[in-house]
Amino acid sequence: MPEQLSPAYLKKLANTYGTPLYVYHAEKIKEQYERLQKAFAQINTRFFYACKALTNLNILRYIRSLGAGVDCSSIFEVKLALHAGFSAANILYTSNGINFIEIEEAQQLGVIINIDSLSNLEKFGRKYGHTYPVGVRLRPNILAGGHIKISTGHDKSKFGIPVDQIDKVIALVEKYNMRINDLHIHTGSDIKDADVFVKGIEILFDVIPHFADLESIDLGGGFKVSYQENDTVTDVELLAKKLAEAFAAHPNPAGRLLQVWFEPGKFLVSESGYFITCVNVIKETSSAVFVSVDSGFNHLIRPMFYDAYHRIENISNPEGEWQKYSVVGNICETDTFAWDRNIREVHEGDYLAFYNAGAYGFEMSSNFNSRLRPAEVLVKDGQTHLIREREKLEDLLKNQPRVL
Ligand code: LLP
Repeated sequence: MPEQLSPAYLKKLANTYGTPLYVYHAEKIKEQYERLQKAFAQINTRFFYACKALTNLNILRYIRSLGAGVDCSSIFEVKLALHAGFSAANILYTSNGINFIEIEEAQQLGVIINIDSLSNLEKFGRKYGHTYPVGVRLRPNILAGGHIKISTGHDKSKFGIPVDQIDKVIALVEKYNMRINDLHIHTGSDIKDADVFVKGIEILFDVIPHFADLESIDLGGGFKVSYQENDTVTDVELLAKKLAEAFAAHPNPAGRLLQVWFEPGKFLVSESGYFITCVNVIKETSSAVFVSVDSGFNHLIRPMFYDAYHRIENISNPEGEWQKYSVVGNICETDTFAWDRNIREVHEGDYLAFYNAGAYGFEMSSNFNSRLRPAEVLVKDGQTHLIREREKLEDLLKNQPRVL
């Protein structure tokens, strides 16, 4: 089992590549992928990496080399995945509220498509009828996930076709003689409880018999990983056991063996990632001791956006005295990474490492305040590789023709 990258090693990387810096550990991704494969070995399963978590091309290539497929949420992710060497047959495009033109493009590229509205399903049926099999994303009306902003399957969510409208789906399928080969649900992210997935599959069992061409059911992503000590995580082994039991209680609902698909994002890459920053300023006030780092929510938005917890370690002083700090960014707006957090004594110039930074870290970064995006480094087989250069001023200037 790969150890976490050590504070001393991370510090060396910060010295070599500068900060702020994203670092990913390939062997940790592999370990997570193998854990899934092992847990679900008794079930006919297929895993599509939800690449919205982290699309660096080298990460995509690495995950492809492990044997996973890829789940995409835009046509550009589809194109990146093709560029990274995934074959169209291993690319799943789970669309959401998109223009039909994008679905036509995905069809031309030959990828697997999931449609999430009656409107696009009708357009698809009218244009392709029986000729191109397609999946349907349903909204199961289940409230799940670690934060309301990352709950997607509940009865007020925009995602998917509400399962209570299944008659309309069936009517369209009949009208256009469509081949529905997959039913998809995704209820949210950071789902601790395996029973949520079981509830989802129970809902699907009721509708499966209506779709004669079905080959798979897709239960989406959302497995929760550990962010802090003693954190509850999704017990994937227990989930596999419960799914096997659910199938045993509903033998052959489609009249043939269905494959079960998952779309893990965080599970594969969250723990592989570290975000390293450097302390610019320490400010003592009557309310808090602020530690300002050379980054902000422009580089790691999860704490401000979802109240997410990221473990923060002073990798420059790992044996120092514990102190309480509020770790803040340098963005000109409230920009807090952690309030009143116990961290080993901090000095200006120290490096602070944020853990669980592989998923939705760099990927959700921006140029807010006209700051440059960090570099990314991959650690694999004990070697380090720069896999994205730090941005430069020229990157901010390009695409802006001078007209005045
Ligand atoms: N499949 C679909 C259709 C999704 O919408 C998502 C995530 C996934 C799979 C992967 O979910 P995961 O295994 O990564 O939980 N930015 C938020 C998470 C948003 C997730 C959006 N959809 C965060 O940083 O917590």
